[in-house]
Amino acid sequence: MFIKDLKNYKDQEATLRGWIYNFRSSGSIMFLQLRDGTGFVQGILNKKDVGEDKWVEAQKIVLETSIELTGVVTEHPKQPGVFELQVKDFKIYQIPVEEYPIGKKEHGPEFLLDNRHLWLRSPSQWAIQKVRDTLIRGCYEWMNQNNFVKFDSPILTPAACEGTTTLFGVEYFDLGKAYLSQSGQLYLEAAIASLGRVFDFGPVFRAEKSKTRRHLTEFWMMDAEASFVEHEENLKIQEELISFMVQKVLAENQEELKILEREVKLLENIKPPFYRITHAEAVKKLGELGSDIGEMDDLGADDETTLTKLYDKPIFVEKYPAEVKAFYMKRDPENPKYCLNADLLAPEGYGEIIGGSQREDDYEELIKRIKEHNLPMEAFRWYVDLRKFGSVPHSGFGFGLERIVAWVCGIQHIRETIPFPRMINRLTP
Ligand code: 4AD
Ligand code: MG
Repeated sequence: MFIKDLKNYKDQEATLRGWIYNFRSSGSIMFLQLRDGTGFVQGILNKKDVGEDKWVEAQKIVLETSIELTGVVTEHPKQPGVFELQVKDFKIYQIPVEEYPIGKKEHGPEFLLDNRHLWLRSPSQWAIQKVRDTLIRGCYEWMNQNNFVKFDSPILTPAACEGTTTLFGVEYFDLGKAYLSQSGQLYLEAAIASLGRVFDFGPVFRAEKSKTRRHLTEFWMMDAEASFVEHEENLKIQEELISFMVQKVLAENQEELKILEREVKLLENIKPPFYRITHAEAVKKLGELGSDIGEMDDLGADDETTLTKLYDKPIFVEKYPAEVKAFYMKRDPENPKYCLNADLLAPEGYGEIIGGSQREDDYEELIKRIKEHNLPMEAFRWYVDLRKFGSVPHSGFGFGLERIVAWVCGIQHIRETIPFPRMINRLTP
């Protein structure tokens, strides 16, 4: 039996198993706050109901005692819809062997991260992981309904996908160096000629030297790739997917959003169409707001913060200068200095959550790009091969799950959105 199902057991007996996350006594009554992963409930333990021996045993209960409580489910007299357990009996699994280190007082982020294995139990961290789970399920559900087939890209790869400066290398037997994948995109491009529309969803790795609130060295990416989809349709797919995921969180995680004190009005507004501006327009706007960004520059972190504070919905920034973007992006036929790409930026200062583009599908052009970017041609032999046998226009994108979780939950730093964050200065626990 689980706490979330208690409403179906009103005035009946129930047995719950979990952990005591708070408690207090008042005379011959103890109020035990129990959590079991599905929710939180108050157990009321009355000396006269359990008898002298059990009452004495109950005095041993401390924070994080693991316990089974049996009692009658009652509805709170003043809060309809809130259920409590009138405890008749209990069984202790374990009394903690020492005082639980995460108490009621405020702790600094480094202390909490050092104790991440325990911090995960706190209501806010519980809520974040629940929202993360809903976002993942929402993504799979939408992709499945829209003919995208899950396709698992490899993690050990022979070459870079997103630039050589953030590659993690490992020794690979007699074959020399292998690299941890930065994105499964290139492999998905092979898959589309078999499956049409595909996506992967897994951990990717970036040796990010930067310590920002938006960067991890290991994070979860969903890459999607679709044949016969051009730039404009690529954006439509993204705004529908993201809206669906956010609406699913609103449908399933009201309790979690309340714990996180997230303003749900802002999320209710997340529906297509999202805003669209070109990189050139963004640069102009940022210049007016005091940024020193140049016409051919990528948007910096501060630029993204400034820009996205102006909007109440996600914004596509389209057509970046080709020189700041990856080699595989198709050029804009109207002005080949720019690409047919878009970054999707989340509002409220969150910034980039998706990078995507139409892909270069011409054999000669792609060879030229690989040479311009000084990439090892041999490692990309298979990739350019795809442009020789039935090449088609195609597009795709990748989202960083943690950045979406942070935005949806209203969390400042993405390190709280992944179970065990890996950053330049943190590898444990
Ligand atoms: O913009 P990126 O680098 O794009 C790609 O990797 C493409 N190959 C994706 C594709 O087209 N299939 O990364 C995609 C997203 C970013 O928008 C961001 O949300 C996230 O991944 N991301 C990070 N998240 C956390 N920590 C980091 N170091 C990240 N780097 C990128
Ligand atoms: Mg990007």
